[in-house]
Amino acid sequence: MKRILSGIQPSGSPHLGNYLGAMKHHIEMQNKFEAYIFIADLHALTTVKDPEKMKAMSLDMVLDYLALGLNPDKTVFFRQSDVPEHTYLKWIFDCITPHSLLERAHAWKDALAKGKKEPTAGLFNYPVLMAADILLYSPDLVPVGKDQKQHVEIARDIAVKFNTTFGETFKLPEPYIPEASATIKGTDGEKMSKSYGNVIEMFAEEAVIKKQVMSIQTDSTPLEQPKDPSKCNVYYLYSLFAEEKEKKALGNKYRAGNFGYGDAKKLLLDKLLDYFGPYRKKRIELSKNLDYINKVLTEGSKKAKMESEKMLEKVRKNIGIVHKFA
Ligand code: ADP
Ligand code: TRP
Repeated sequence: MKRILSGIQPSGSPHLGNYLGAMKHHIEMQNKFEAYIFIADLHALTTVKDPEKMKAMSLDMVLDYLALGLNPDKTVFFRQSDVPEHTYLKWIFDCITPHSLLERAHAWKDALAKGKKEPTAGLFNYPVLMAADILLYSPDLVPVGKDQKQHVEIARDIAVKFNTTFGETFKLPEPYIPEASATIKGTDGEKMSKSYGNVIEMFAEEAVIKKQVMSIQTDSTPLEQPKDPSKCNVYYLYSLFAEEKEKKALGNKYRAGNFGYGDAKKLLLDKLLDYFGPYRKKRIELSKNLDYINKVLTEGSKKAKMESEKMLEKVRKNIGIVHKFA
């Protein structure tokens, strides 16, 4: 069976982009692949510097995944920080990764240009930790949104560098980025992202989701005039969740006229609340059972550790750092 691996930073409430671009794929793929999914809390430390927030957001991310259908009996589900092999291998990779490779990373260049994130050594080395996360488990595919493609390519570059320096050790992973969900657009038509303030969240209070939906930008075509659904962000977001006949029906309303963007937004809001309603319920139930959550994570990290220890042993042997001289 082929293997997938992916992680998500617990750096804020997940949005439709995270769900459609990453989490939904992870959950669907657990039925066809051997799956490793983790909470990338050490990566989140590059931006989250408040311990209470770190704790709360990590728990939230675990609840989100389990509520959305991640099955811990099928998927090895764990916290990155529970498996120290990740940071161990990261150091080894640091010692073979060209500085220039990291300087070319879009995320780093972006961080410098925008000046919003503190340009720490950790942020610079972010892709090296990500390479360790990936290569420890030899996945075939890494399902992520398009913005993470370069990071997966850097992981491949680091694997090649290691293999040529120390002998064949790592399998080269492929990014898995289905075109339809590669970049989900936000309320302003740009890529939906926490850092752009253009998100629609899945599990926020209804009033918050309503406000986010109502803030979707539209053009100024008057209510009575026909409208082109293919140019409308509300229609676009609706179509990501609607069935074919629902999409057609909404398209017809747009073209008929006397149907305003406000009406379309109401339909979208109802659709989202309906779609995520059962998950929201499950999430509330799960949040009352922290013993279960802790048990899931303990078991997940045990399984992840078994796998990653094997790979790290192989790496240590290949670089000549041994437990016993012989
Ligand atoms: P954000 O950009 O909001 O900070 P993250 O970087 O935490 O999101 O992304 C977590 C996962 O969700 C990654 O796999 C990323 O590629 C995916 N993702 C984030 N935003 C989008 C989007 N707008 N469209 C598709 N995938 C996305
Ligand atoms: N950088 C990824 C993101 O922001 C999270 C991540 C960390 C990851 N390690 C990974 C994704 C390994 C895939 C594989 O979304």
